[in-house]
Amino acid sequence: MEQTARGAWTSRTGFILAASGSAIGLGNIWRFPYVTGMQGGAAFVAVYLGCVLAIGIPVLIAELTLGRHTALNPVGAIRAITKSRYWPLVGYLGVITGAAILSYYAVIAGWTVGYIFRTIAHSSSTFGAFVADPAIEIGNFALFLLLTAGVVIGGVERGIERWSKILMPMLFLILLGLIAFALTLDGASKGVEFYLKPDFSKITGSTVLAALGQAFFSLSLGMGAMITYGSYISKQENLAISAASVALADTLIAVLAGLVVFPALFSVGQEPTQGPSLVFNILPRIFEMMPGGTIVGVFFFILLAIAALTSTVSLLEVPVAFLVDQKKWSRKKAVAIVTLIVFVIGLPSALSQGSVPALSSIEWFGGRDFLGIMDFIFGNLSLTFGGLLLAILVGWVWGTRNAAEELALGAGPRFAALIPGWSFMLRFVCPLIIAAVLLNLTGIF
Ligand code: TRP
Repeated sequence: MEQTARGAWTSRTGFILAASGSAIGLGNIWRFPYVTGMQGGAAFVAVYLGCVLAIGIPVLIAELTLGRHTALNPVGAIRAITKSRYWPLVGYLGVITGAAILSYYAVIAGWTVGYIFRTIAHSSSTFGAFVADPAIEIGNFALFLLLTAGVVIGGVERGIERWSKILMPMLFLILLGLIAFALTLDGASKGVEFYLKPDFSKITGSTVLAALGQAFFSLSLGMGAMITYGSYISKQENLAISAASVALADTLIAVLAGLVVFPALFSVGQEPTQGPSLVFNILPRIFEMMPGGTIVGVFFFILLAIAALTSTVSLLEVPVAFLVDQKKWSRKKAVAIVTLIVFVIGLPSALSQGSVPALSSIEWFGGRDFLGIMDFIFGNLSLTFGGLLLAILVGWVWGTRNAAEELALGAGPRFAALIPGWSFMLRFVCPLIIAAVLLNLTGIF
């Protein structure tokens, strides 16, 4: 009963598409290629795939199970399974992390909107000049936040689900078309080699942290977004299948994005290590070279903006669901106030791309810009740490035995055989690997 009052997905595919909509976004098409480029290519891709399988999928199942069992936001869900005063802090960390990621993610999403118009206008200014214009940066950022707020006010099934249904299949098809073109370019094979032929000697502790952080980011894990989405799933669904479908769709889109970017990148002789500007530099080059490229480019950036929107929606949904469930705010009020706060904390990120020099190169952080620092702290560290705590919470505190009862609902007897494997991964493998990676970072290990 409570589920319907809060809203619920209308069907299994509705949920899978909405959760894939959350997972698939800039993380796949902007972040994955640039991080892969910086981390040396194929070896990183291999470590990334390992992280998705060994850690991402078990934690995804854990979040969905906890969400569906309690039908609550992260803070409420954790309160429902433990009396401890401290564990709910993990939920609060998630609420804060959601707002913090949204604050810079919407800035980048704003770039995708700008690129729709730049492609139409055949704009010749560089990416660097585009993002250094403060009025355009703030305008696109504000526009994107307003779009997100509009969808989230619409609520679960009218807002989030409807958008996701149309988009995902289209994005997949356009990527296939772009790959077919990119592979025909001169010198494309060097890009394919960089991307798919691993040199394992390149792997270091920071590669593994980057891969793990990327897996959490891309699957929308570690901050309770999937607890929140899980809270709207009906008891008839098979959570293991849903989790596997979401992880597969998300990974596929990221891998395909790399197959567009790297062949083209090597073909035109750009550097794979250029960082966050990577796809914004290379994609317009592809559209320039391609017959009918303007139309394809406009269409692509529209799809990318919508993919980003279905992700920002899930970021905003976490603090909003928290305020609606726990503080009994109306949905409208919660959306309005969180959006305003996010706008304010996002301003330094929006101004950190050249418009304000002091924010664009921050010395005590290795010359990174403010946006990059937010992405490292919240988009990488906080999610990884949150993932560690959630694995311990579900694996040990709530316990995989309790979780397994919830997981078994909607799953046939054949799935029961998989539960011990999942339990082992969640209780032992996930915490050990994540803790080792985090300790390595602090230099203790
Ligand atoms: N996964 C999304 C992407 O790859 C971003 C995102 C949406 C996210 N919701 C999240 C990341 C929650 C971490 C946590 O673009």
